[in-house]
Amino acid sequence: MQDVKVDLARAEFFDEFSGSWDTHGPSPEPELVLTFLRKLNIDSEKTVLDVGTGTGLLVPHIFSFDPAKVIAMDLSVGMLEKLRGKYSSRFGAKLEILHGDVHLLNLHDSTVDIALCNGVYPHFHNKPLALSQLQRVLKKGGILAVNHFAGRQFINKIHGSSSHDLIRQDLLDPVMILSETIAGCGFRVKEWRDDKTEFYLIAEKI
Ligand SMILES: C[S@@+](CC[C@H](N)C(=O)[O-])C[C@H]1O[C@@H](n2cnc3c(N)ncnc32)[C@H](O)[C@@H]1O
Repeated sequence: MQDVKVDLARAEFFDEFSGSWDTHGPSPEPELVLTFLRKLNIDSEKTVLDVGTGTGLLVPHIFSFDPAKVIAMDLSVGMLEKLRGKYSSRFGAKLEILHGDVHLLNLHDSTVDIALCNGVYPHFHNKPLALSQLQRVLKKGGILAVNHFAGRQFINKIHGSSSHDLIRQDLLDPVMILSETIAGCGFRVKEWRDDKTEFYLIAEKI
């Protein structure tokens, strides 16, 4: 068992941002988000894990597909408190809010149908370990989606110009490199896109 520690440095960074996160920039158009989510076949039988949910940008969109449960998970308590204020009474028991680090994912094996990593993958400091945790909690045939509602160059420009040393290192590889990493962690890659406007990869647990 590796000696894995919670990523306190990034937790602190995102906590500082949590107060202004919802107003720091334009949100993706709802139709763009829904078009992406339709690819994941969310339905009333499915448990969806939103990894690095932040203040829950995707949460109401995921609920529009009537899933059995959404687990909104994040490293930052500040982000989750914002999310709780916005959505816990609206979605009730179907919304589980989980504080934690993906590298130490506190969920049982084979319990998740869809794991979504929107805008968070570059922040995983040990990508094979994070992917192995997601592979563990997904059911066989379960779906992993890594995505950004922006192009890779744009994301890397934002992260690369951060005043925070750690965030400057949180860069997104070209999708073919990501694909090799994910395929090496027990997934079959199904679909991807890496262009000026969008970045995503969808894979299935083997
Ligand atoms: C760029 S924000 C994206 C938030 C949200 N998905 C969105 O699109 O608005 C990245 C989020 O991932 C969280 N995060 C970063 N590293 C994480 C980790 N190792 N485990 C869980 N969450 C993490 C941060 O706390 C932050 O809320």
